[in-house]
Amino acid sequence: MLNADIPTLNATFGITRQITFVNGPGDLPMVSIQNSAAEATITLQGAHILSFQPHDQQPVLWVSQHALFEAGKGIRGGIPIVFPWFGPHPTDPSKPQHGFARTMVWQVLGTSAGAEGTTQVRLGLNDTDQTRELWPQAFALEYVVTVGSTLEAKLIVRNTDEAAYTWTGALHSYFTVGDVRQIAIRGLDGTMYLDKVDAMQRKTQHGELTFDSETDRIYLDTDATCDIHDPALQRRIQVAKQGSRSTVVWNPWIDKARALADFGDDEYLGMVCVETANAAADAVTLAPGAEHRLKAIITATSDVA
Ligand code: BG6
Repeated sequence: MLNADIPTLNATFGITRQITFVNGPGDLPMVSIQNSAAEATITLQGAHILSFQPHDQQPVLWVSQHALFEAGKGIRGGIPIVFPWFGPHPTDPSKPQHGFARTMVWQVLGTSAGAEGTTQVRLGLNDTDQTRELWPQAFALEYVVTVGSTLEAKLIVRNTDEAAYTWTGALHSYFTVGDVRQIAIRGLDGTMYLDKVDAMQRKTQHGELTFDSETDRIYLDTDATCDIHDPALQRRIQVAKQGSRSTVVWNPWIDKARALADFGDDEYLGMVCVETANAAADAVTLAPGAEHRLKAIITATSDVA
């Protein structure tokens, strides 16, 4: 069914003590999920996971204090969905950066209480006149979010068009860290990357990734799990993935943070993006009727070893 008002959404898809539809920040309709393991929220605009917090952890996802919660605007933090192009549009700079999936209103397809106390929400987005103006292809997206002690986010892209097409995209996850200058990301040693802050030069990662300046990299041809080691918060966030050949790592550092209207000047210290992506040379081509599954599996543990 097409999205209705909050009472109707609750009557149709609510689950007592697990799933409630509410007006979230900026009055954007939002799914609020609670179960024995964790809490999470997802706005219907963008199918945007805004928060995920296991009961024994600090918030896993980061959202800016300056984030905009407005119809048609992207939200700075959480997990925006990037589709059908990653970064600037390849030929038309007037089109929105990172595509349009993050700013469209998605439909609720279903909710369920799963095995082992998990809770699942399924959201969908199909092409419309509005999306075809930006990108002519026909598609059906389904986003399956499973909340337990681990957060699983699976984006299924189905080509409902009559011809093959190619897309890029990402689950653009922003993580909370204690101090980005102290963290280390492991899992990318030996991986080639495009350095977006150095004229897209191709480089190779040596050892773990640490941060002392603006960092914006597309690691290519990697299906590795990444671990964010965070000594300040004394925890490790593991980002495992499926159907993803690229990992994008981003921190805007000082100057870029100042230049972004929806990003506090000092907030770069408390966040890092590790994105489950298919970008640049890892673009996905789908035959008519074919589908691709892009999945991030996010687990936080109190462990800095
Ligand atoms: C990252 C890109 O994925 O997203 C960066 O690699 C970009 O180049 C960042 O600055 C944020 O993008 P946006 O459109 O949300 O400001």
